[in-house]
Amino acid sequence: MVDVDYLVIGGGVAGLSAAVRLAARGTVLVVTKEALAESNTAYAQGGIAVAMGGDEDVALHLEDTLQAGDGLVNRAAARVLVQQGPQRVEELLAWGTGFDRYPQGQGYKAGELMWTREAAHSRSRILHANGDATGREIARSLVERVRSLEQVRLMEWAVTAELLLEGDRVAGALLVDGEGGLRTVAARAVLLASGGAGQVYAETTNPEVATGDGIAMAYRAGAAVSDMEFYQFHPTAFALPGAPRFLLSEALRGEGAWLINARGERFMQRYHPQLELAPRDVVARAITMEGMDGPVYLDMRHARHDLAARFPGISAFLERYSLSLQRDLIPVRPAAHYLMGGVQTDVHGRTSVAGLYAAGEVACTGVHGANRLASNSLLEGLVFGALAAEAMVAEPECPGWHLAADALQRTAAQHGVMTREEHTGRWVAELRQLMWRDAGLLRDRAGLERAQRGLQALEQAQPSGLSRGAIEARNLLEIARLMVAAALAREESRGAHARMDFPDRNAVARHSVQQRGRLWFEAESSD
Ligand code: SIN
Repeated sequence: MVDVDYLVIGGGVAGLSAAVRLAARGTVLVVTKEALAESNTAYAQGGIAVAMGGDEDVALHLEDTLQAGDGLVNRAAARVLVQQGPQRVEELLAWGTGFDRYPQGQGYKAGELMWTREAAHSRSRILHANGDATGREIARSLVERVRSLEQVRLMEWAVTAELLLEGDRVAGALLVDGEGGLRTVAARAVLLASGGAGQVYAETTNPEVATGDGIAMAYRAGAAVSDMEFYQFHPTAFALPGAPRFLLSEALRGEGAWLINARGERFMQRYHPQLELAPRDVVARAITMEGMDGPVYLDMRHARHDLAARFPGISAFLERYSLSLQRDLIPVRPAAHYLMGGVQTDVHGRTSVAGLYAAGEVACTGVHGANRLASNSLLEGLVFGALAAEAMVAEPECPGWHLAADALQRTAAQHGVMTREEHTGRWVAELRQLMWRDAGLLRDRAGLERAQRGLQALEQAQPSGLSRGAIEARNLLEIARLMVAAALAREESRGAHARMDFPDRNAVARHSVQQRGRLWFEAESSD
């Protein structure tokens, strides 16, 4: 048993940004499913969007965020994001994050920060690091900082099985540690910073840890979840048969890459005036439509600058398949990338359950609306992780120890014995295929109802036990059910949610909310 002031579940940018602040006010335990550096944060290539050019720049960043979100963005949350973003990035710079800077002799002052542009941004406001390894560099500097803080204890390779409730407030969590031992943690406030759920789909850019654990656990604990139907598909994941769905950053199009269909035509003019720099949902759908007649390619062969230097990670990956950005057409198609929905929170990460907070991809402040603007997610983690920490320190003292022993007994009895992983693997693969086929990028009632029936059938053979595989499998099922229910209920097409049977957007923008088996819609009400 562990007794701390604050429990942080997840070690990406949101969790670490919170942990740094919480450490000034009490003891903190940061729990991660794998090694600390393995989170969606570390996989973010393109960069971090931030408006560091003064008021006009901030206003434009807000406008771009609202535009991309297709009428559903919570304006108050978006304003907080763009206004507080610059301070948080200055802080990262002070902590030694090495964003790319201009060398001598390129018409810029040597050492000046290097900015790039990405889709649906009206100007160049994306910082990057080591070319295309921005998330990894931000994670490196945050991990270094967190490791230097005495008040922070890290527990890696530990899976959170369930949140522990004392009455109607969250007061800790039950964990399974790396050796398979059960541990209970009592804490006065718990922050979910466990990231997204890309593994719910057969094709994803997300790492294996992204199984929606935080959302599933919060929902079971009685928290409201919102906008679960809005799943963003990144337009350009690598699409060579047998190869992983490696992310080919938005920044490639930001720096001039074209999209080419099987007939060798550049096709985006048929879909959007911003061509390859249209919002991500538009580009993803266009590639899917063009992809029905054969492969779609990224074409950067016309670029004049050194692409291997600007995109070293992507270039090294492509080299394994004897491909080069400078010389070859690169096959691409969309893959599941980012969940706009999640645990419903205010801008301070407060959920509808006392003692429980959420920040980053696991949360839904409404900041992304129906479609996230490229490179806003690292900033989201930094800003809202910090704000959640501010609110958490106001929580009352931890109610006590007795919950731990009770909850341990209850949860262990409920979940029974360990499940064999191979069984879990096949079951999960079926769920992921079903979601990809029937609840993916293009949806309709027939497909979504087929998905619902498929999930009901899978539920009958649901893995039990407290192995990591069994816990993740149950969480994926929970997430899939929430996503399909919301997708069926939303009879319109908006942002990333494309219903073939309801192609138009409704006049009123509403958020879907689900809690304890009920689903309803709430009008977007921010000023
Ligand atoms: C990318 O580099 O394209 C991913 C960045 C993001 O998802 O915002």
